[in-house]
Amino acid sequence: MGINIAIDGPAGAGKSTIAKRIARKLGYIYVDTGAMYRAMALYLIREKILPSETEKINEKCREADISIGYENGEQIVYLNGENVNGLIRTEEVGNMASASSPNPNVRRKLVELQQKLAADQNVVMDGRDIGTCVLPDAQVKVYLTADSRVRAERRYKELEERGVQCSLDEIEKDIIERDHQDMTRDISPLMQAEDAVLVDSSHMTIEEAADAVIALLDR
Ligand code: DC
Repeated sequence: MGINIAIDGPAGAGKSTIAKRIARKLGYIYVDTGAMYRAMALYLIREKILPSETEKINEKCREADISIGYENGEQIVYLNGENVNGLIRTEEVGNMASASSPNPNVRRKLVELQQKLAADQNVVMDGRDIGTCVLPDAQVKVYLTADSRVRAERRYKELEERGVQCSLDEIEKDIIERDHQDMTRDISPLMQAEDAVLVDSSHMTIEEAADAVIALLDR
């Protein structure tokens, strides 16, 4: 049995940055579950399916084989054998991931993969339902959040650095919409697990937030 740290929270709260830092500090494996939903979304977009076409999503998701591997400590997501890491960090893919992730077939497939990864190694896993559904027995559970404006500003900076033109108001609107979608779906909605510790990163540095999570291991 490995030690499992589960980090859930809304888009842009800093989950992946903080989880990666924790994994590096502790020598754990970082598992980014959002990337798996994004790879599935990319497949659906390539199949010309719209986020509103729930029936088609249900059918087509069976054809996508998602797996992960590690290169130099970095998680690589494969979609039917193709490394898609460079293609999944767009708003289009994020929105499709949010729209397709309520599908039970999509979730069953990806949750199984996530549970296998955590079964026999030490992992820091981030997502929306890790503490509530995927790893209910995780030793540490954190609900990481931040003010929506702060989250929008972080994403804006990230996109700007990559040379992507965007508007801060549009990003915040998108974030609020995505939060709503993720929190109100019927299956595995985003919520704080009863035994999760709330960490608000609005006024914290990455280092401070990572240390706050690591400190929970010694409780
Ligand atoms: O964390 P992210 O932005 O990469 O996630 C993209 C979408 O995937 C998110 O809006 C909802 C979905 N998701 C999910 O339903 N369950 C997870 N464990 C992770 C992500």
